[in-house]
Amino acid sequence: MTSGRISTSAKARQLWQGRSSGEQSPLARQIGESISLDIQLYLEDLLGSAAHARMLGRLGILSSADLDQILPGLAQIKREIESGRMELQIELEDIHTHIETRLIEICGDLGKKLHTARSRNDQVAVDTHLYVRRACADQAALLLAVLRALMQRATENIDTIVAGYTHLQVAQPIRLAHHLLAHFWLLEKSMPRLQQANRQARILPLGSGAMAGVNYPTDRDFLAAFLGFDSIAPNSMAAVAGRDHITDYLYAAATIMQHASRICEEIILWNSVEFGFISLPDELTTGSSIMPQKKNPDLAELIRGKYGRVWSNLNNVLVTLKSLPLTYNRDLQEDRWPLLDSRRQLDLSLPALEAMIQSMQFHPERMRSTLASGYATATDLADALVQQKNLSFREAHHLVGALVALAHKEGKVLSELSPTERGTVSVHFVDEAFYTAAIDLYRSADRKISAGGTARTRIEEQLRLAESRLDFWESQEWYRPPFEWIEQTGAWDEPSRP
Ligand code: ARG
Repeated sequence: MTSGRISTSAKARQLWQGRSSGEQSPLARQIGESISLDIQLYLEDLLGSAAHARMLGRLGILSSADLDQILPGLAQIKREIESGRMELQIELEDIHTHIETRLIEICGDLGKKLHTARSRNDQVAVDTHLYVRRACADQAALLLAVLRALMQRATENIDTIVAGYTHLQVAQPIRLAHHLLAHFWLLEKSMPRLQQANRQARILPLGSGAMAGVNYPTDRDFLAAFLGFDSIAPNSMAAVAGRDHITDYLYAAATIMQHASRICEEIILWNSVEFGFISLPDELTTGSSIMPQKKNPDLAELIRGKYGRVWSNLNNVLVTLKSLPLTYNRDLQEDRWPLLDSRRQLDLSLPALEAMIQSMQFHPERMRSTLASGYATATDLADALVQQKNLSFREAHHLVGALVALAHKEGKVLSELSPTERGTVSVHFVDEAFYTAAIDLYRSADRKISAGGTARTRIEEQLRLAESRLDFWESQEWYRPPFEWIEQTGAWDEPSRP
């Protein structure tokens, strides 16, 4: 990659110098540059340029001999950027100008022909479309890996019983697999969102020119086929003004991080001394510089924290777009930071989340004792009174409430109360077989036989459903822009649609 150096010394002649003298103040240059960010779009920009050059070749604007210079020139620029040999200059503002300027250095006046029938407005649009498509493909794979890890741990923990919570108070016993699969299904909802962003980014903006179209009979079908787009933007103004591919991607990214933050919150809680349900391996925790006993779940906290910025990135672009008149306005350059930042944060967070899920150790004993001290089977006992002792639910609820109050007063869990103690609340509780069956944790879970419930048979069913969902997503083709085509210099080769 690039060395990241950005020089401010060069006195470059602006490519756009025309009516304007091109003499910008240092302030204007500083506020105007986007190269410090959009250097990350160099592959997309080169690919768009290679497609455009080939299209100009088909129109006869560039000859075969011209292409034999321009295409290797683009490939050379790629190598220069990747080896850190391209010096970034603030005067050259953005990635488009850097590449074009360098091409002119390499190919001489011929390089100046490449910008025929295009504008930086449709260039930046096609670059971000290609970038979103790459981000969706890469992050669908990262998200799938997290889903696989959740599946794996769920499969291993069908018979581990843990407390399910409402209001962060112990509610009912559930299978740990059920809890892990809850996160699976919540996260899985973001897969179609990535797919939607990908779909949105498959409408080709290139060829729209500055905003009105261009004065050449360009072949946009060729561009679309070459770059693997599904269709051509039907309106050149909408094509350079719209950023829906970015907002759709940022929405998908935000919902992924939102669910990730909820998983992380539970990792943090469950890893505490107070819960003690899990421990994280040393390599995924951090010590304290002052408190030697500490082993902090920093990764989970960071992911939880990063959700704030990823959510804000979506908001950022949505607000930038508000009331923006058609078509291109320089405000749109502000889309770069949120787009690149969310991509980066997900690239960091998803593998870290996967690693924690894969490696956390569960403590079933501790989970069971929490269930007991939280009187987690009180509802089961009430239902048993209704079903087997013919009581109304209201009456049963009242009796079990009184029994729990007694246990609490005696400092006991339900299973520790003697038949005599239980008899002081209701004669029904003296029936030992009835009582122990009603408050048994496994039996409680297995009574939740409704579809989507935590009974073992339902969990097995759920695992099969989850597996088929994963198979479905794994079978989806996620288009990756064919960057290798930058290196292919054959001027007249027909691309194959990916
Ligand atoms: N640097 C600009 C951007 O990133 C490129 C488009 C500039 N177009 C213009 N008319 N000034 O959005």
